[in-house]
Amino acid sequence: MKILTVENLSRAFGGIKANEDISFEVEKGKVLGVIGPNGAGKSTLFDLITGYTKPDNGKILFENKNIFGLKPDKISGLGVGRTFQKLKPFADQTLLENVMIGAFVKENNIKKARNDALEIIEFVDLIEKRHHFARELSTGQRKRLEMARAMAIKPKLLLMDEVTGGVDQKTIPGLVELIKKMRNLGVTIITIEHNINIIMEISDSILALDQGKKIAFGSPKEIQNNKKVIDAYLGTVDDA
Ligand SMILES: Nc1ncnc2c1ncn2[C@@H]1O[C@H](COP(=O)(O)OP(=O)(O)OP(=O)(O)O)[C@@H](O)[C@H]1O
Ligand SMILES: [Mg+2]
Repeated sequence: MKILTVENLSRAFGGIKANEDISFEVEKGKVLGVIGPNGAGKSTLFDLITGYTKPDNGKILFENKNIFGLKPDKISGLGVGRTFQKLKPFADQTLLENVMIGAFVKENNIKKARNDALEIIEFVDLIEKRHHFARELSTGQRKRLEMARAMAIKPKLLLMDEVTGGVDQKTIPGLVELIKKMRNLGVTIITIEHNINIIMEISDSILALDQGKKIAFGSPKEIQNNKKVIDAYLGTVDDA
């Protein structure tokens, strides 16, 4: 069953076609990996799907409901969560408070929102840090905060923008495990990821973008052997 259908999605910024005629589908319960060089339009695609940027044209169906052009709070309320490439936690709020902000999307009762948030903080393995201010957390821990905040809205579909970006090597495996744990809960995931080994490992299918256009969509194996993808992207990646 399809959870998300995107058809001919387009958005330009002045003369830059950040997304041009992007079409793809995501099966419920699966992981879609999104790859492409810097400036390919990956984050813009997330902004369009989640309502942070208004699309110019196209169609976006979430669970067969048209979400094209809806505001971010409406879209998250329907069960589409996201993390941001540029982390922006409330630095002077605690981890627990940050995650509770997410929980309030689905839960008005403060006590219940707090309990939900604590459960999710436990899930991302940061329970002992719950009363620490966000600014006191390491980058890896702030990535987990971001994932917890996104999970707190109880998403059916979760879009994650470069979870492993900007963290040191030894922090990466734990974050990858966490993505897998989320998938195992049945959450459908779309993840933007520059590390090609990780994307191959966790994705059921992969969407490759370049200069705002879809250049390929297929299984990890198909993508790995796709000439356009190799020329635009994989050829430049140090695979060691
Ligand atoms: N708000 C904006 N205003 C103007 N141009 C924008 C805006 N957002 C994105 N762009 C442009 O759209 C293009 C796609 O950017 P986007 O951030 O989506 O790329 P990306 O694939 O996420 O890149 P990266 O791997 O570096 O994160 C770029 O040329 C970028 O400069
Ligand atoms: Mg980006």
